[in-house]
Amino acid sequence: MTDNKKTKELNGLRDKNMAKGFASARSICVQKAEGATIWDMDGREYIDFAGGIAVMNVGHSHPDVVAAVKNQADKFMHTCFMVLPYESPVRLAQKLNTLVPGESPKKTMFVNSGAEAVENAVKIARYYTKKTGIIAFENAFHGRTLMGMSLTSKVQPYKLGFGPFAPEIYRIPFAYCYRCSFGKEYPSCDIACADHLESFLITHCAPETTAALIAEPVPGEGGYMVPPPEYFPELKKICDAHGILFIADEIQTGIGRTGPMFAMEHWGIEADITTTAKSLAAGMPLSAVVGKKKIMDCVHPGGVGGTYGANPLACEAALAVLSVIEKENLLKKGKDLGEKLSTALNDLKDDFKIIGDVRCLGPLAALELVKNRETKTPAQEETKAITDYCFKKGLVLLSCGVYGNVLRFMMPLVTTDQQLEQGINILNNAFEWLEKR
Ligand SMILES: Cc1ncc(COP(=O)(O)O)c(C=O)c1O
Repeated sequence: MTDNKKTKELNGLRDKNMAKGFASARSICVQKAEGATIWDMDGREYIDFAGGIAVMNVGHSHPDVVAAVKNQADKFMHTCFMVLPYESPVRLAQKLNTLVPGESPKKTMFVNSGAEAVENAVKIARYYTKKTGIIAFENAFHGRTLMGMSLTSKVQPYKLGFGPFAPEIYRIPFAYCYRCSFGKEYPSCDIACADHLESFLITHCAPETTAALIAEPVPGEGGYMVPPPEYFPELKKICDAHGILFIADEIQTGIGRTGPMFAMEHWGIEADITTTAKSLAAGMPLSAVVGKKKIMDCVHPGGVGGTYGANPLACEAALAVLSVIEKENLLKKGKDLGEKLSTALNDLKDDFKIIGDVRCLGPLAALELVKNRETKTPAQEETKAITDYCFKKGLVLLSCGVYGNVLRFMMPLVTTDQQLEQGINILNNAFEWLEKR
């Protein structure tokens, strides 16, 4: 049954009452979501390849997560952990301290959003090192707060008009092998992009004043570039040699998105500080900063925190998420899903010239679309046409990349084989339609 009139009415009300900048990609109204399926108010069903931007790794409305939130809501919803503490954040911190890669003892603090976790990671790194400089990457995205957008490198829509930005931020190119900033090719490049950090510390910012380097293991908004295996170990070695902290922003890549619980496990890296959020609490607003004990404990009581940090509903949801991942063997399921996805996307590349590059790291994947495989001219308009077509046919698919020409895949890890096949079929039809257009 459709209820188109009601959706239209709501959209009208929204336009009248909600700020334009707080925009949505689509103008439907969601009514229900389960696993990798979403239903709108008009009774239409969608396969979800976006997962609320990598938030729903355990799937929408997982019964264990829903039960945990309901159960907590019956008891109490807020006391402010900074005033009157309770059990769930303590248990969750204990779990995260063991899950975040590396042998060093860890400690954790909680806030509400990814951007807030990034803000706090930078505050802690500066406080600990007594230095101010932060090195970030081209193609980085770290949020929309002042520090978050200052660290972000995509101008539109995140920065233009919102300055001045936070000072003491320096930027180096990421290992974007498809469009190498140094005009080289892997592996003959010898990871020149990582070695560049050494000279950057001479030409741009001295180690004596540089507190930290902040890196997304795979840049999310920036285009899902998977770096070569030697890249992060080399960067980490340079950071360690110069007393610069290494912050891993695992807000998008954590909680099984790339196969293991955290992406840094692919390269055996122990970050000094790790930020995580998104899929951690399956839709409840929660983020965590997890770091080496001596670093996390450097700040005086009250120096970090916030009214809603470690919200009891969100922490119960996160405990349920971690137990679902274990109980349902979701990391293994994610790896299997990633393999099937990679095969399907590489098959599409064989069939459609517009696909310039396929990038996969476990169940995180991307297709970079180009007008011409030789010139690699970004196919931005075509990318939008593909996501629009897919949406009309019942597939939620998002784009990313500085040029808006990358399709990214971040479906729930519980996506069934049938849903994957259906979604890929829709995408295949979209490419066929585009060629005939
Ligand atoms: C790597 C990364 N860092 C930070 C953020 C900001 O998170 P939030 O939107 O929850 O503030 C995001 C969001 O997409 C992200 O992908």
